Amino acid sequence: MCGIIGCAGRTDDTLDVLLSGLEGLEYRGYDSAGVALANGSLDVCKREGEIERLQRAVDDSLDGADESDAGGSDGGGHRGPVGIGHTRWSTHGPPTDANAHPHTDCTGDVAVVHNGIVENYEELKTELQARGHEFESDTDSEVVPHLVEERLADGASFEDAFRAAVGRLEGSYALAAVTADTEAMLAARSDSPLVVGVGDDAAYLASDVPAFLEYTDRVVYLEDGEFARLESGSWTVTDAEGRPLDKSVSRVEWDAEETAKSGYDHYMLKEIHEQPRALRKALRGRVDELAGSVEVASLAGLSPSSVQFVACGTSYHAALYGAQLLREEGIPAQAFLASEYATAPAPVDDDALVVGVTQSGETADTLSALREAHRRGVETLAMTNVVGSTATRECDRTLLIRAGPEIGVAATKTFSSQAVACNLLASTLTDREDAREVVGALRDLPGQVQELLDDSRAGQVADRFLDGAGYFFVGRGHHHPVALEGALKLKEITYKHAEGFPAGELKHGPLALVTDETPVFALVTGDREQATKTVGNVKEVEARGAPVVAVTDGVSDAGRYADEVLEIPETHPRVAPVLANVQLQLVAYHVADKLGRSIDKPRNLAKSVTVE
Ligand code: AGP
Ligand code: GLU
Repeated sequence: MCGIIGCAGRTDDTLDVLLSGLEGLEYRGYDSAGVALANGSLDVCKREGEIERLQRAVDDSLDGADESDAGGSDGGGHRGPVGIGHTRWSTHGPPTDANAHPHTDCTGDVAVVHNGIVENYEELKTELQARGHEFESDTDSEVVPHLVEERLADGASFEDAFRAAVGRLEGSYALAAVTADTEAMLAARSDSPLVVGVGDDAAYLASDVPAFLEYTDRVVYLEDGEFARLESGSWTVTDAEGRPLDKSVSRVEWDAEETAKSGYDHYMLKEIHEQPRALRKALRGRVDELAGSVEVASLAGLSPSSVQFVACGTSYHAALYGAQLLREEGIPAQAFLASEYATAPAPVDDDALVVGVTQSGETADTLSALREAHRRGVETLAMTNVVGSTATRECDRTLLIRAGPEIGVAATKTFSSQAVACNLLASTLTDREDAREVVGALRDLPGQVQELLDDSRAGQVADRFLDGAGYFFVGRGHHHPVALEGALKLKEITYKHAEGFPAGELKHGPLALVTDETPVFALVTGDREQATKTVGNVKEVEARGAPVVAVTDGVSDAGRYADEVLEIPETHPRVAPVLANVQLQLVAYHVADKLGRSIDKPRNLAKSVTVE
């Protein structure tokens, strides 16, 4: 949610680095964007809307600068050694040019970008206005440059002024600031991610690594309460009192190619197709196929009496699935929506484990639930995709899902990798009689996903059901989380109304909504009792005239009652939901594509939701 980029030390292409960095952060979701360059003077350009609008505005002002420079001045225009950029996801004040960041002080010499919420901004703003400061935006963020300005006017150095200003803030923030005449950029974080990129001659700052991955893969993650100073080719991190901290530089395993679209029309489609590779990586070195055993170093010695999962959105659906797996093994386990857990935590026993399932490792609701668990002395595990994310740093243990960067706002490959990670956790904690079969099924999963991707009819099914008045997804047991996920995927990228239900629940109310205009996607695999019952539910909706799409391995006779069949390869019942889900990802993608939706950046949504 929102993005910050900064760079110091690239003398002639700072602006390009900022603009392409902002593009690299687009996936996080935003409604306006802006940049500021400091080079003796301060140039700020910001626009409501897409980065393209900002780019055009910057080009226009550069043209203007070129013309005015034509008389032989030394040029310069929008070039400068230090720059900051921002994509805004409004919390205070509508998306407008004026509310876009960077924000400046009364002198126009201090520029600040902010991600998060300044909770005490009203009090600060009233105070500042009483002292004569004039505000140009409705944002909470604008108090920051004015606070810096006051301290500078008192004779403080930029660094002391910035530190003092930050000290007045309550709430959550990632901040970056520059002044017209300082060659340093300052940054601070609290509850909002920030990472420093260490280049040979330049230093970078961003909310997330893809923003500068083109230039360096060496990174330093900032922790809450830390400050950073970036200058041409150098960086330092200090605590709130200004004491230098010894921070380690880590190397990011992702490469720039992994964060590019590689010929696909959308990141989402690319990421759906990356699943076989992602799943292989999730399993590599962690399963012993011969012994049928699982060994994950970070889970060694773990033996909880009960497990609580906390997560949001798609990750919550993976958590529901994970909790089911554990319950089947006799371990009491529950999945909670993190936003609810944070406000009303469930009781835990001393030997409990709380697992935060979070792709980004930065979701505020999930972090807040994990912190609550931590406060109560419970062991915590981050099941995440992002090395060095806040969740990994705050939890006692980390289980990396290794899916690689996911740029599309709609989570796809990370759900599959989370499901595999849940299996690794369940197999670590318990001894199943059929452990060897489960491991075998996991080993075959990447190949089966590939088979499905090569042969899916999801595009044709999408064509046939583009005009649905609503879409329902039903499944029992392990398929219930996938029914929820199928509906979430469809609604978030197609803007069509969709709901997922346990198949047996349909007749207790939702059936009233079922008509010949509401396609029903039924997940049916195997031929156990659950499958037979779901086939019964399929007949119920068919009798009401609803078109039925069966997502099935063909073992039951579900296909006979369906208008369309999306086949999945036969596998262990635990693993089948992952395959079924891939078909639903493709359906959502194709419906959205045919409706011309903004697939990778659906309206109103952000990839990483860093506010509660
Ligand atoms: C999924 O398509 C959504 N974009 C969203 O529900 C997401 O899964 C949720 O915000 C949680 O994010 P996280 O996994 O990064 O914590
Ligand atoms: N609260 C700030 C605003 O509304 C920052 C929002 C963001 O994180 O983008 O401008």
